[in-house]
Amino acid sequence: MTAGFPALRMRRLRSHPALRDMLAETILEPRHLVLPLFVVPGEGVEEPIPSMENVNHWSVDRLSRIVQPALDAGVKAFILFGLPTYKDALGTSAAEADQPTQRACSFLRERFPQAYCITDVCLCQYTDHGHCGHLTPEGEVDNDSSLEQLARAAVSHARAGAHMVAPSDMMDGRVGRIRAALDEAGFSETAIMSYAAKMSSAFYGPFRDAAESAPRSGDRKSYQMPPGNTREALREALLDEDEGADLLMVKPALTCLDILARLREKTLLPLACYLVSGEYMMLRSAIARGLLDEGTALLEAHRACRRAGADLIITYEALNLARRL
Ligand code: PBG
Repeated sequence: MTAGFPALRMRRLRSHPALRDMLAETILEPRHLVLPLFVVPGEGVEEPIPSMENVNHWSVDRLSRIVQPALDAGVKAFILFGLPTYKDALGTSAAEADQPTQRACSFLRERFPQAYCITDVCLCQYTDHGHCGHLTPEGEVDNDSSLEQLARAAVSHARAGAHMVAPSDMMDGRVGRIRAALDEAGFSETAIMSYAAKMSSAFYGPFRDAAESAPRSGDRKSYQMPPGNTREALREALLDEDEGADLLMVKPALTCLDILARLREKTLLPLACYLVSGEYMMLRSAIARGLLDEGTALLEAHRACRRAGADLIITYEALNLARRL
């Protein structure tokens, strides 16, 4: 047997496009993609977000202009990030019925009954200090008091029509608290997708500009996870499963594919990953400079998420990619 012989045998499986297609192991279709939407107060707003190419701030009355084409391209689900009309220390506006997230839910439910409506549940867009929970007088995050406000926010989303709520705050016990609050309020059909393994990451930078949610002081390292720790990420995710999460998410995506693959081995729940703003802009910037071929690069990056075990991919490329698939 010569040294080159095994490689030549593999080539027989790759020689014809039909056979390559027949043997493709990883399927990526528009139905796997979830499109994030940034919703702002006011009317007639359709403003490009400076930190995120091809991503807009939308007022509720303009949402059809992005939702309709996405549905036409085969995208079935949207995750809403609302920017409120005001911020305070407790994130009061997070749970108010007339804020953009809640209004967008009602709008989507009424106008696009076929669309699946997910909401991000967090306090960072709603607090004047920009942290994902309440703060103690010493400036530490107050885990347990935050849980109550997060639960109120989740219930208000469900009341507005959200099919699924996605807590991204990373407080301990939030999934259980939100599950209990939803059930008590009569929303036992509302699902929970937990940002289960959410790393403390540089790759959220462009999003924090888009959502106006950067912390005024300090960082999120006391509640987001150290990116080097795999066992801790898996424990966090499995705790969320025990607390009643229906779907677990890993975030960021491309820097955490190993976590995703290992979580796939540990749970039977469906999994999602979030190709976050920084990962998105990394790809977009290289594409804009002509360094990467758009179609192939996007396909490769998103297919890698599927290969690692993601059922769903939350991605700012959902519409663009769905059109290419
Ligand atoms: C809110 C939240 C963030 C993202 C999703 N939900 C920001 C953060 O945790 O700092 C990031 C998404 C992205 O970067 O695209 N807590």
